[in-house]
Amino acid sequence: MSTNSVKALFQPFRSDKLTLDNRIVMAPMTRGFSPGGVPGEDVAAYYKRRAENGVGLIVTEGTLINHPAAGASTKWPHFFGTNALEGWSGVVKAVHEAGGKILPQLWHIGLTRKPGTGTNPEAPSVGPSGLNLAGEQVGDPLTEAEIADLIAAYAQAAADAKRLGFDGIELHGAHGYLIDQFFWGVTNVRTDRYGGDLVKRTRFATEVVEACRRAVGSEFPIIMRFSQWKDGAYDAKLAESPDELSRFLQPLVDAGVDVFHCSTRRFWEPAFADGEDLNLAGWTKKLTGKPTITVGSVGLDLEFTRLFKEKKGAEAVSIDGLLERLDRGEFDLVAIGRALLNDPAWAKKIKEGRQDELRPFTPEATQTLY
Ligand SMILES: Cc1cc2nc3c(=O)[nH]c(=O)nc-3n(C[C@H](O)[C@H](O)[C@H](O)COP(=O)(O)O)c2cc1C
Repeated sequence: MSTNSVKALFQPFRSDKLTLDNRIVMAPMTRGFSPGGVPGEDVAAYYKRRAENGVGLIVTEGTLINHPAAGASTKWPHFFGTNALEGWSGVVKAVHEAGGKILPQLWHIGLTRKPGTGTNPEAPSVGPSGLNLAGEQVGDPLTEAEIADLIAAYAQAAADAKRLGFDGIELHGAHGYLIDQFFWGVTNVRTDRYGGDLVKRTRFATEVVEACRRAVGSEFPIIMRFSQWKDGAYDAKLAESPDELSRFLQPLVDAGVDVFHCSTRRFWEPAFADGEDLNLAGWTKKLTGKPTITVGSVGLDLEFTRLFKEKKGAEAVSIDGLLERLDRGEFDLVAIGRALLNDPAWAKKIKEGRQDELRPFTPEATQTLY
């Protein structure tokens, strides 16, 4: 590994709204360690451990907006209510004390929620057209009034994030959850202003971003995570070409997104079959001029979905390929998921050239909150 390339990972990052000590981002990872939706001192210590070991920016696990059917587990953290927000305040303090930066990933899972689950099992699951990811009719389309309430819930969470001292917010617009269900033609067949072609299907997301922007003012960073793939539909694509990707992203930029978090399972894969060897974060940066975060199997030899499907871990591998791409400016920031879940000191070890101390990722790492 050349010293120059490692340096690229530890260069400070500066954009108009966000300044970070280095390029390493902790990827959002649902842990299920917040009983009753309240993140406790163990959760604060978990994030603090990553901050004090040199992670530049922590994106929290998905945390639920204030809607009865936002989540499917009573152990996923809420981002509303006095107790949960107090818990988050403790998390922010702990991370800031360690010199880190942190923002919450605001989440609603839409129609991926199994009926009868979560804090309000009686609440019906909701999505744009009542269609699940398989395109099956499992509920009623959301009404415009219900959509307005959802948008207001995102905005309230954004306002609370700012009030609690977070360094920004990330909107979870990826992986087939609520915002992505509006993006995707399979789950959004609405004929009103929230449906239509790919550009029109960005309407819900742009209204969420605009409402959050109004709630937090012009200087507070808003990150949007999006993906082509959906849970269980890995070949799904929102955009088939760079041109389509550009038309999809522009309304989000206009609405006020500052940074795009481009979720892929393998960072080295080109986003499109024809054309340049750029990944999704590479194309997004090139097309929008906005900073981007790449993610997907950095430092590991198998993608994360193998964990859920096959209970598989992954071997630690070289990050040279990643460093080369970062060095040439394909993207700005690099999110690390399982490797950081496994080992809070991953960033420090990379910085100090202690790659030989990196351990394989094992599924057992998901069972503890160390
Ligand atoms: C246990 C676990 C939980 C996850 N939860 C979330 C989540 O809440 N929100 C999200 O956007 N992605 C989630 N992901 C995906 C990760 O953010 C990341 O994109 C993925 O793990 C790929 O990065 P990696 O290969 O470095 O692990 C999760 C991944 C894992 C392993």
